[in-house]
Amino acid sequence: MIKAIRGTRDLLPPDTALWNFVEKTVREVFGAYNFQEIRTPIFEATELFARGVGEETDIVSKEMFTWEDRGRAQSEKNQLLTLRPENTAGVVRAYIEHNLQQRGLNKLYYIGPQFRRERPQKGRYRQFYQIGAEVIGPASAGSESPARDAEVLELLATLLDRLGIRDWSLRLNSVGCANDRAAYNEALRKALEPVVSEMCEDCQRRAVTNPLRVFDCKVPEDQPIIEKLPRISQFLDEGCRKHFEQVQAILKSVGVPFTLDDRLVRGLDYYTRTAFEFTHGALGAQNAILGGGRYDGLSESLGGPSAPGIGFAIGEDRLVLALQESAEAVLRTPDVYIAPLGAGMDREAARLARELRHHDLVVELGDENFRLKKSFETASKVGVRYVLIVGENEVKSGSYALKNLETGEQVSVPRAELAGKIQAK
Ligand code: HAM
Repeated sequence: MIKAIRGTRDLLPPDTALWNFVEKTVREVFGAYNFQEIRTPIFEATELFARGVGEETDIVSKEMFTWEDRGRAQSEKNQLLTLRPENTAGVVRAYIEHNLQQRGLNKLYYIGPQFRRERPQKGRYRQFYQIGAEVIGPASAGSESPARDAEVLELLATLLDRLGIRDWSLRLNSVGCANDRAAYNEALRKALEPVVSEMCEDCQRRAVTNPLRVFDCKVPEDQPIIEKLPRISQFLDEGCRKHFEQVQAILKSVGVPFTLDDRLVRGLDYYTRTAFEFTHGALGAQNAILGGGRYDGLSESLGGPSAPGIGFAIGEDRLVLALQESAEAVLRTPDVYIAPLGAGMDREAARLARELRHHDLVVELGDENFRLKKSFETASKVGVRYVLIVGENEVKSGSYALKNLETGEQVSVPRAELAGKIQAK
């Protein structure tokens, strides 16, 4: 038997109804904040992620699905391509390629699959789905303002509440700007020098190439050392500190609760200033339901114009896991099962089903070859409340036997009143 590849999975009903519920709510909420959808390709040039996300990140150094694509003509060079591990780099590439700066502030969102070669476990997959948004544009359009950071965070609080997710918490930090980073990296290097030989191999390399990435280390023995390293909060310059204070002040004024965590640096290199994660209690080890932050220099590092931006991505798989407890509420079971009774009744039943569906009822249609007993058994498996019998007598009289499976009551209802009766419940 051929099975789905480890780390990928099929999404089956009834779970897909939850996914649809999430995506519908997301589109409504994003719409209310005036975000518009963008769709970028699922694979891109490897260089985009190497330059955008950063060579030394776990994502780029260990987790990308990359292959060499043969050039078609002899003169064409082979190209390294990668299944996107995240969507921010792709959005910023599109921003540059299509001159989106001309539109001023761009508020874009996406929903789609991403790919990372991680060790699969509950809540962590090799193909997973993200719901993300990016606010990006020239500084003159207000893209740098702390008001944008706060608006994005407030949107997320609203969205999680609308979805019925209560048990979330927001961890917030500022990772500073290029100025701060240089001084901070220097301090980290110094602090790491005497202890780095006791750390894991990855950290020994990171200490030289990109010391900030030491914070991504998951090796338990390294944690006491990392705990004692200097924190970025001590290195923020005046501008970054003020920016961060303003973000916090707006959040307080709109009533979005948060906790400060100056160890939070996020696993992607492009972040500047505000960085954040939302976690959820019920998720266990993989409890980061979403993450994001500001990336004011990303466009330039991809060869584009200055375009400050801020965004986030929600792990949709994890969001759905967190929602699963309240799944019942969003599943819509069919309203009525139509049981055609006897030869020639499929035709009549189909007409009646068409009529009822026009009234926005969910109708499951049976089969004239089924005995009545089998129709009732099928109907209760489907979970409907009503069974509607379509036999020769009913068709002749224009009045139909409607049985309520919950109460056992059966009544005869004229055709014109059927939809109303079923809707009334
Ligand atoms: P990220 O933190 O790498 O950020 O991913 C965002 C979210 O995607 C995570 O919090 C998690 O819920 C989900 N996720 C990541 N990896 C997996 C996986 N293997 N299986 C299931 N879910 C996963 C980004 O991707 C940034 N592009 C976010 C961003 C947008 N920053 C600014 N704009």
